[in-house]
Amino acid sequence: TKNMTSLPDELLQMSEEEMRNRISYIKQEMGTRLLIPGHHYQKNEVIEFADITGDSLQLAQVAERNTEAEFIVFCGVHFMAETADILTTEQQVVVLPDMRAGCSMADMADIHQTTYAWDELQGMFGDTILPLTYVNSTAAIKAFVGKHKGATVTSSNAHKMVQWAFEQKERILFLPDQHLGRNTAFDLGIPLEQMAVWDPIAKKLETDAPLDEIKVILWKGHCSVHEKFTVQNIIDLRENDPTRKIIVHPECTREVVALADDNGSTKKIIDVIEAAEPGTKWAIGTEMNLVQRLIQQNPHLDIVSLNPNMCPCLTMNRIDLPHLLWSLEQVYKGEPVNQIKVDEETSHYAIEALDRMLRNV
Ligand code: 13P
Ligand code: SF4
Repeated sequence: TKNMTSLPDELLQMSEEEMRNRISYIKQEMGTRLLIPGHHYQKNEVIEFADITGDSLQLAQVAERNTEAEFIVFCGVHFMAETADILTTEQQVVVLPDMRAGCSMADMADIHQTTYAWDELQGMFGDTILPLTYVNSTAAIKAFVGKHKGATVTSSNAHKMVQWAFEQKERILFLPDQHLGRNTAFDLGIPLEQMAVWDPIAKKLETDAPLDEIKVILWKGHCSVHEKFTVQNIIDLRENDPTRKIIVHPECTREVVALADDNGSTKKIIDVIEAAEPGTKWAIGTEMNLVQRLIQQNPHLDIVSLNPNMCPCLTMNRIDLPHLLWSLEQVYKGEPVNQIKVDEETSHYAIEALDRMLRNV
């Protein structure tokens, strides 16, 4: 299929109301032939039309279970649409409404850097390492990990999966988010001195510890959205109001997670806020669209973003009402654009990594 980034003029001239009506019409006409999953970080104008919303684990599980939809118009980022393609049948077509909706963290580990690092690490540690990759990674990285008997993880099952990995091997390589890897390993009792960082640009291992003491090798990647929550934000907030509880996503740095009152995946943050006592005060350190939605949906709570400048994920925000409508129009005509198709060999090995996670949680 074709890839498309610029929208046709007639669509850009439509009013929001016309766009909404047209989307509702197509959804109604297509019924269960169409599935629209939406990640919690998507804009409200998109979430409004999602058949199912969730964090990355929930959306992967939905994709795996759904055999009915002919077309899955995935409102999230590229790696999530790839995962959906891997987990669905050959006949099901997965579409990403805007091909520019990538993830800067996933882009921080490419397959050539990873094979180079792996060879170097095998030289240093022998056959003692199991690779784990955050689902925020390309299909090629998932396949690499699957081939080497490792698994994927998401922020909501990272503890369980890291524990599982240590039942298989002495040490782990955690890709591509150093913060989720570090925060999870730390929670499991591994001291920071036993964690080293692999720098894919400098092509070297950063550590002061003797090699045989290293338990966790963290890939030097990060989420540019969650890194914007700082220790200074926490200090400022507590100076202003020490009674406000702070909850952050584990993609935030170790220092921020250590100072916060609580941390957890997107799903955990939502669960904590939904269970909060009326009138309580919260500061949340995660993506802006989700924080704003939680503010709107919980008028009985006092919620602010941990960073007063708010932190949007610009690539998640690429998916908007016009792109959603355009991709749906094409699907409705039977001429889908922006199809995400992972090749057979990559899928074969990536499924092994995803399966080890999905069977474990
Ligand atoms: P979760 O959906 O697993 O919480 O991940 C957050 C994220 O950054 C998705 O890109
Ligand atoms: Fe990637 Fe971070 Fe955006 Fe999630 S929030 S898609 S990890 S850049």
